[in-house]
Amino acid sequence: MNPSLIVLGVTGCIAAYKSAELLRLLQKQGYEVQVVLTEHARNFVTPMTLAALSRRRVITTLYQQEQRDEGPQEVAIEHVQLPQAASALVVAPATANCLAKFATGIADDFLSTLYLATTGPVIVAPAMNVHMWNHPSVKENVGRLRSRGVILVDPEEGYLAEGIEGKGRMADLETIVSAVVNAARGTRDLAGETVLVTAGPTCEDIDPVRYLSNRSSGKMGYEIASAARTRGATTILVSGPTQLPPPAQVQCLKVRSAEEMRSQVLRHFSEATIVIKAAAVADFKPASRSGQKLKKGQAPPHLSLVPTPDILAELSNRTHGQILVGFAAETERVLENARKKLAAKKLDLLVVNDVTQEGAGFDGDTNVVTMLTAEGSEIPLGKRSKRDMAHAILDQVVALKKRHA
Ligand code: CTP
Repeated sequence: MNPSLIVLGVTGCIAAYKSAELLRLLQKQGYEVQVVLTEHARNFVTPMTLAALSRRRVITTLYQQEQRDEGPQEVAIEHVQLPQAASALVVAPATANCLAKFATGIADDFLSTLYLATTGPVIVAPAMNVHMWNHPSVKENVGRLRSRGVILVDPEEGYLAEGIEGKGRMADLETIVSAVVNAARGTRDLAGETVLVTAGPTCEDIDPVRYLSNRSSGKMGYEIASAARTRGATTILVSGPTQLPPPAQVQCLKVRSAEEMRSQVLRHFSEATIVIKAAAVADFKPASRSGQKLKKGQAPPHLSLVPTPDILAELSNRTHGQILVGFAAETERVLENARKKLAAKKLDLLVVNDVTQEGAGFDGDTNVVTMLTAEGSEIPLGKRSKRDMAHAILDQVVALKKRHA
C-alpha cells in the first residue's frame, strides 16, 4: 500500500467542475491522486484537465487497453489492484446514481467495480438537487452506506445550480479534504471506545438579542471529534454555537448555554469511556434573563452575574474510570495555573495554551499547546494545525488508556 496515494472518483453532475480544485487541495496535503472519471462525469470535466493536474493517466473505463502498452489482462485487473495500492477512495461529487450503485453492489463501470474491491476507507461527498437528496430512496441508500462504515460528507444548504436554495450542494472542499486526511491515516486505535467531546463557546443570554460569550471558534473540539471518529471511536460532540459543519459520522448535539451543555454532557457521560472538554464554557451568566429586549432607556446600570456550573469539576466527582481531558486557555503564569487546574479538576490530562502566543488560540487553524499529565509529565507540542494537534492529543489519550488498563 502506498500511504500517499488517494483515488479520487468523480461522477456526473455539475459539481464535478470542483474536482480539479479538490485534486489540488489533496496534492497540497502531500497526496498523489489517481483520478477515476465516470462516463457521465466526462460531460462536466475533461480527462485532459485532471490528467495534467494529477500527472497520471485518468481512468475512464474498465477496458482501456487502447491507451496502454500492457495486454488486456493486466488492464482488466486494475480495479482490483488500485484499491489495494491506495490509502483511501474519495468520491466527490457522488450522484444519486452513484450512491444507489454503491448501496446495492451494482458494478457496471470502473468506479462502482473499484468500490466493491475497496477494503480501506471510503469517503463520499454527495451533490444533487434538494428534492433528490430528500427522496426516501436516496435516504435509504445513504443510511445503508453509513451503516457499512462509508464516511458520508453531507451536502450543505446553499444556492443550487438550478437556481433555488436548499440542501444538496456538495460540502465545502476543505471539509472533504479533512475527512480524507483523517480517514487515510488508517489508525483504528480507538475502536470500541466512546469519546464524548465538547466544543465551541457557550452563550449566556441577557435578553432575546444580547448575550455573553467568548471568542472560541470550536475548531479544536471539532477536529478532535473528527479524529476520534476516524480512529474508530463512537463519537458524541456536544457543541456550543459555531459556524462549523458537523464532522462526518459523529453524533452532534447543539447547545447554547453552559446549563444546556451540562445536561447533554451528563446525559451521555455514563456511556463515554473518554471525555475531552475542549469547550470554552462561559464562567458567568447574567443573574436574570429578560424575556423582552431591554430598551435603551431601561438599560440596567450594572449587569449582575452568577457563576455557571463547572461541568468538568462535576464530572471528576462522578467518574467511573473514564479518562478525563480538560483544556485551559491562559494568558499568564501558564503552566503554574494549568497544574493547579489539573489537580483541582482531578484530570488525567490537561491541554493548556497560552492564547497570547502567535499561532495559538481561538480563531486560527493552528495551535501551540503543552500537555500536562496527572503523573507529572509535561509534553510541549509546537505550532501545528489543529487537525494534527487533535491526533497528537488522542495519541496521548491512547497511551494513558494503555497505562490504566
Ligand atoms: N469548564 C467546564 N465548565 C465551566 C468552565 C470550564 O467544564 N463552567 C472546563 C472547560 O471545558 C475546560 C476546563 O474546564 O476543559 C478549563 O476551563 P478554563 O475556562 O480554562 O478554566 P476555569 O476552570 O474556568 O478557570 P479560569 O477561568 O479561572 O481560568
